[in-house]
Amino acid sequence: MRGNFVYCNPTKLYFGDQSLNYLKDELKHYGSKIMLIYGGGSIKKTGLYDEVVKILKENEKVIIEDPGVMPNPTIEKLYEGAKLARENNIDLILAVGGGSVIDYAKAVSASAYCAEDPWEEYFIKFEEPKCKLIPIGCILTMVGTGSEMNGGSVITNHQAKMKVGHVFNHELFPKFSILNPKYTYTVPKYQMVAGIFDIMSHLMEQYFSDDDDNTSDYLIEALMKSLINSARIAVNNPYDYDARSNIMWISTWALNTLVAKGKTTDWTVHAIGQHIAAYTDATHGMTLSAVSLAYYRYILKYGLPKFKRFAIEVWNVNVDNKTDEQIALEGLKKLENWMREIDLAMSIKEIGVKEEMIPMIAKTYRASEGGYYNLTNDDVEKILRQSL
Ligand code: NZQ
Ligand code: ZN
Repeated sequence: MRGNFVYCNPTKLYFGDQSLNYLKDELKHYGSKIMLIYGGGSIKKTGLYDEVVKILKENEKVIIEDPGVMPNPTIEKLYEGAKLARENNIDLILAVGGGSVIDYAKAVSASAYCAEDPWEEYFIKFEEPKCKLIPIGCILTMVGTGSEMNGGSVITNHQAKMKVGHVFNHELFPKFSILNPKYTYTVPKYQMVAGIFDIMSHLMEQYFSDDDDNTSDYLIEALMKSLINSARIAVNNPYDYDARSNIMWISTWALNTLVAKGKTTDWTVHAIGQHIAAYTDATHGMTLSAVSLAYYRYILKYGLPKFKRFAIEVWNVNVDNKTDEQIALEGLKKLENWMREIDLAMSIKEIGVKEEMIPMIAKTYRASEGGYYNLTNDDVEKILRQSL
């Protein structure tokens, strides 16, 4: 494990199909004013909204609702939410939903009392908050982002054609997160597989960097293998509790900072995906699946030993009478087969990118460093064309 690092994860997790029972215990630690943040209404359809409201009322909380958080939450929504939180002197934000709801909750927490414009402060200048923060608790309904146990918050500014993530420090990690795999049963298949690929991408972004022998890489390989297996099962039977619970747990550990320890990490696929989403508002996981294969084939020669290891350890590629490059390419072919099997978007056309948009998307790309090769804007244009 190279380098010096700090590992601290303050989020308390409650996992399992009975985990909502613990909400009342957590509520005791906070004052009466609860800002209940949720998305476009799935929690009303599933009945979770009624259950949560009942628990809040039984515990004599005053509920201030902030519904309608959209996938890829916008800066306009953030301004409204920050004002609502400030005006109501909120004691706890309770975010019930997927990554968008939780990311937005973190941004609201950091923005409510921010003296500056939060977009400039956090998403342009990447400052750490200097103001009072509102504590956040989560009830997760869709898995993929890891937002339930990290400091990530991704906000979209359509006017500026920017989708930007700020990774806040430990103070903005949720104080607690409730993870009931059964809540994910109702996630539409498109969103479910997008979430699964988001997890795979988080793991690959952290795996494909460095050339030392690092325990983090072994952890990542184990998480990948479990994900590949459980994804196949969940796609065939969304109600398979073992598979859904595994995917939920893998998702949390894929991006709660643990497996990045001692690593430089890449994040190029996410950087390209966010640029695409800024133009198309496409589903996050699909922006990653649509460009991953072209990117990894493009950089394979720069990180050949690791791509070979990926093929052997994760995909069980037989090495007999093959060159390192053939082995590595076969690993990526197996990744591609799995991606097709679970029905991911495999081209950027499928997610709304038109050929004429490519130069613009490539031009605004900001380099992501840490992987095996730093792409230039021309490289990005080539990769986008290969992803059409
Ligand atoms: O809004 P509702 O009606 O709730 O519907 C949502 C939404 O339409 C639906 N959904 C969620 N749970 C459901 C459900 N539908 C039925 N049953 C349920 N149980 O799913 C749709 C997508 O939800 P969303 O929260 O947008 O998905 P996801 O969790 O993938 O979050 C995506 C956002 O997270 C950011 C992405 O960029 C994107 O903005 N990310 C956050 C990260 C972080 N915090 O570290 C890292 C990631 O790489 C990612 O960038
Ligand atoms: Zn992601």
